[in-house]
Amino acid sequence: MFQIGHVDADRIAAKYGTPLYVYDEEVLRQKMESYRNHFRCSEFETGVIYASKAFCCKEMIRLAGEYGLFLDVVSAGELYTAYRAGFDCSRIFFHGNNKSLQELQMAAELGTGTVVADNLQEILLLREVLKKNNSEMHVLLRVNPGIEAHTHEYDVTAGNDSKFGISLAREKELTDAVFLLESDSRIHFDGLHCHIGSQIFEMQAYFEEIRTLFAFAAKLKDRYGISVNTLDLGGGFPAKYTENDHPLPIAAICAQLLQKCCEERKNCPDVRRILIEPGRSIAAEAGYTLYTAGFMRDTASRHYIFTDGGMSDNIRPALYQAEYEAVIAGKEDAEKTQEYTIAGKCCESGDILIQRALLPQAETGDLLIIKSTGAYGYSMASRYNKLPVPGVVFAADGRMKEVVRRETLKDLTSKEL
Ligand code: LLP
Repeated sequence: MFQIGHVDADRIAAKYGTPLYVYDEEVLRQKMESYRNHFRCSEFETGVIYASKAFCCKEMIRLAGEYGLFLDVVSAGELYTAYRAGFDCSRIFFHGNNKSLQELQMAAELGTGTVVADNLQEILLLREVLKKNNSEMHVLLRVNPGIEAHTHEYDVTAGNDSKFGISLAREKELTDAVFLLESDSRIHFDGLHCHIGSQIFEMQAYFEEIRTLFAFAAKLKDRYGISVNTLDLGGGFPAKYTENDHPLPIAAICAQLLQKCCEERKNCPDVRRILIEPGRSIAAEAGYTLYTAGFMRDTASRHYIFTDGGMSDNIRPALYQAEYEAVIAGKEDAEKTQEYTIAGKCCESGDILIQRALLPQAETGDLLIIKSTGAYGYSMASRYNKLPVPGVVFAADGRMKEVVRRETLKDLTSKEL
């Protein structure tokens, strides 16, 4: 029987029902530990910031805390979840291109460690908030180096026309921002942040990013006497979704990033701290979605299996043409004789989870498991067609525990007046 965290998948499904998100907690721990152990070097202070957008719930945030990771949040909602999880707010980095007054106020009141400022307007608002709250804040400035890493176009976050950060081509805007940050005694301007995309396999894109950031930090120093002590390289490190994906191991990614930083350091010796923000590469491979196979339909060219979930619990195939692999629990060793299209139950033709899955003969009632759904699945779930959001279970060492309960029908109307 297919196991997750050494628990038989059919036992998990029998106890908690389907559709269900299940995480192998051992894998989550391995990934976090790997980042913690390998993103280190003698030349720099280093820090790993877990990008909670990939998978955000209290239990996951507690785990990140246990491994000494920092936390990236992008909204009052993620910040609140971190606060409720008991995460040390001074270790939080607050991102986002359009933070509201309320969000900045909340960040200040909770003692959030660092705000990653995206634009001039935000810096002005933050200055007002800190004055009113009589508090201080570390700030990184998000810059856009114009590097386009090869990934899905929606996942590109640093092309020249990106909505994120100030383009390095706009020098006046950048220096205005830095001067505004430097001139406020409540703000500790630490340095620069940049994120060039997601699911990036080419290390070359990161090397280019690192080179560009060091060069810009050097320019700030030489021309304006401004010292940059921190560079945050963002996230985007890849995960394995299918047999065709061959991501570098976390250890190799960390080593290569740091080696490049060491090489570039001569250009700007003020830089003493390097940060990264992995999300997907921690959460994706640990996650599975369990479905029960429902009705089946043959068409001219397809054999459909319908599942009890779909694009509401995993929007990625419909949104990014993301590819996944499936197994039928209990039939792992059976011969794969049939190509199926695995579709969800939403009222939309695009609600297809896997276009072509080679599987053993499937039957209604089978437990169908889609692998590597741990990042941006639960966190991007919707209630389309009023499908309740599935629960989340962690499994490890032969034990399982529910960490987010399944939504009920009652939950669905609970906010409706
Ligand atoms: N830091 C910043 C500032 C980010 O914007 C992101 C992701 C990350 C870190 C983490 O990136 P990761 O290591 O997870 O690639 N919904 C899309 C992914 C959007 C990523 C947005 N930003 C998907 O499902 O592919």
